[in-house]
This record gives sequence, C-alpha cells and structure tokens, in this order.
Amino acid sequence: MEHKGFTVWLTGLSGAGKSTIAEAVAAELRGRGFKVEVLDGDVVRTNLSKGLGFSKEDRDTNIRRIAFVAHLLSRNNVVAITAAISPYRAIRDEARAMIGNFVEVFADAPLAVCEERDTKGLYAKARSGELKGFTGVDDPYEAPLNAEVVCHTDKESLDESLAKVMAKLEELRYLEQVG
Ligand code: ADX
Repeated sequence: MEHKGFTVWLTGLSGAGKSTIAEAVAAELRGRGFKVEVLDGDVVRTNLSKGLGFSKEDRDTNIRRIAFVAHLLSRNNVVAITAAISPYRAIRDEARAMIGNFVEVFADAPLAVCEERDTKGLYAKARSGELKGFTGVDDPYEAPLNAEVVCHTDKESLDESLAKVMAKLEELRYLEQVG
C-alpha cells in the first residue's frame, strides 16, 4: 500500500505564513506515513535558483524550476509542498497544468499585517527605497481566483489553517492509500 503523490502549492505575500503552514502540513502528513519534501522559496534561492533575482523573468524561472521538481516528486508518490510567493497567476496555472495533482493554498494576510510582522525587516527596506521591486510594495502580487484553500492567517490560528488544508486533501481523496 502506498500513497499517491500530489503538490500543495502555497502562495502569498512575504510574511503571510506560507513556510509556517508548509511545515505544519508536512509534519502532519509525515505523521500519517507520507513521504514529503518542502520546497521553500528562501531555501530554493540558495541552491536550485541561486543567482536569480526578483525581476518578473527571474521569478518566473524560479517558479518553473520549483514546479518542475514538484512534478518529479509528485509523480513518484512523494508529496511536494511549495512555499514561494509565486506572484503571477499565469505561472501558477502553468504549474497546475503540468503537475496535475495540485492543491493551491492561498496564505491570505493583508499587506498591512505582513508589513507589521516584518519578520525579515524587508518591508522597512522596501518602504525606505533601499530595496526596489518588493512584492506588495512596488511589485505585483496576483491573488488566486480559485485556490482550493484560503487561509486567513491574520484571523485564524495555525491549527485552523492546517485543519482547512487537511480537510481539503481528504475531500479530494489524496489521503487514501492506493494498492
Ligand atoms: S518568488 O517571487 O520568486 O516566488 P520567493 O518566494 O522565491 O519569491 O522569494 C521570496 C523571498 O525573497 C522573500 O520572502 C524575501 O525574503 C526575499 N526577497 C528579497 N527580495 C525580494 C523582492 N524584491 N520581492 C520579494 N521577496 C524578496
């Protein structure tokens, strides 16, 4: 008995909670016997996408690389959980079409909340002009129109967000074992 592979694709602003949700979902799925890999934007950018910047072209390349790896993992019965801003709807939809078993999770926190958290101090730098082209400040973020799950991370607890993702995976029958 094995599990089917699939991809949980988190998208949202910097500081919206993508990595936190990704790690919680990964831990839950591992506890249930799934093989899981997390592809986190910050980590990917230190190896697979080292050298890429934040122009639209470089972001698209970054996302296509993440999608490619997620596809390889998913088709080999590993769950891939991605946590990159992935600001452009068209490239996320391209990833969805390539991967197939694709569950989009929108970590939806208002910009003001992400900015208030400013966990990495980057919003302050973007506001002062020290950092140009920062997502949400002076670079676009295209919110999903039909995400399978929306986590309002400013209003709900991590446990609630986790429960929403798990309920959707259950509904889509990704938690069942296959012979
Ligand atoms: S993506 O746009 O290509 O999907 P990714 O998730 O890999 O972005 O990387 C985003 C992270 O890079 C942010 O959380 C932040 O720490 C850092 N970063 C540095 N410069 C920028 C920028 N101009 N816009 C957004 N994030 C940036």
